[in-house]
Amino acid sequence: MNRREALIERVSAAFEQAYGHAPAHIVGAPGRVNLIGEHCDYNDGLVLPCAIDRETLIAIGDSDDGHIRSFAADFDGDGDAFAIDLPIEQTECDWQNHIRGVAHFLQQQGVELRPAKLAIAGDVPIGAGLSSSASLGVATGLALSRLSDTVVDPVDLARAAQMAEVEYVGCACGIMDQMASARGEADSALLIDCRTLETRPVPIADDLAITIIDSGIRRTLTNSRFNERRAECEAAARHYGVPALRDLDVDTLTRNRGDLDETRFRRARHVVTEIARVEAAVPALATGDLPALSRLMGHSHRSLRDDFEVSIPPIDKLVSMLADVIGDRGGVRMTGAGFGGCLVAITAADMADAVIDCVENRYNRSADIAASAGIFRPSAGAHLIC
Ligand code: GLA
Repeated sequence: MNRREALIERVSAAFEQAYGHAPAHIVGAPGRVNLIGEHCDYNDGLVLPCAIDRETLIAIGDSDDGHIRSFAADFDGDGDAFAIDLPIEQTECDWQNHIRGVAHFLQQQGVELRPAKLAIAGDVPIGAGLSSSASLGVATGLALSRLSDTVVDPVDLARAAQMAEVEYVGCACGIMDQMASARGEADSALLIDCRTLETRPVPIADDLAITIIDSGIRRTLTNSRFNERRAECEAAARHYGVPALRDLDVDTLTRNRGDLDETRFRRARHVVTEIARVEAAVPALATGDLPALSRLMGHSHRSLRDDFEVSIPPIDKLVSMLADVIGDRGGVRMTGAGFGGCLVAITAADMADAVIDCVENRYNRSADIAASAGIFRPSAGAHLIC
């Protein structure tokens, strides 16, 4: 039985256990890894993530009691229920708020939701920065709209899932993770223009491998620190009199700096230079230009560490050990919001074993928390499984 089959069996069994009969449908939505373009999405910039072969599955069936009921197999069978014809309130619990928020924002988009029973199971690691939350939100949107016989555009699914995270969960995230989960394409990265929400698949050269290194360090206080970074970026954009940092280049940033304080200036410099790195990474990824990827990912990491200040010392250590091993045959950097979580390496395929060996043997010998590494395949976005 492969990974996907095992997950289907788990979510079906959870549904039967909770409701005593088989589900009508099963849908899946993947997590994502961001290859480059960090903290650019909420600045209207460009990002280059790909969906990964780890996902959240939702089994869904009709209900006759006017409620949406959920059963979370990964949270000890924790459950939730809310009426669909009353205002949908927040709870104290994040996973419930993703579901409630998505239901609310689908209704706002005009989808006439039907009462439903849901069971949820996934294999996106939680708190590792691989967007388990976005995959839950997008899977919820797809499941609820499918049961209600409504086709919702993937961009609107992504919007509903993002708004749920902002309004119900309290993290002022951008839309990258939800877009990657809703629109990802197999074997490709997804270039997203976060201002227009236009996407373009960027094929990944055959001889490249994407390795995700999980530092094992789970993120803490992410929402508050994330929201603080976002506020700093917005303040910098206001200082320059532009709608978003996307509208600046490095020359203008320096020339018009005026009395902008050092912290906000550095936050803005990260965003402006990172967007330029995304533009340069697109052809490098498609043609397998390893020295260019090495340079771009190295600059991206240093910028996140020094200007945006979202890395942490154990991750910097891992990045520098891996960069030494990889040389100019690929690149490595932290990925996601930061403050712990994962790294991503894009290398020549024949280097992947050396990357994994460096993490699991050399790094782990001196680390307090064990890291792990594996090769991931860029995967298709959310879809109906059956
Ligand atoms: C988190 C957010 C995204 C994005 C990244 C950083 O994953 O949810 O919207 O801002 O951090 O690139």
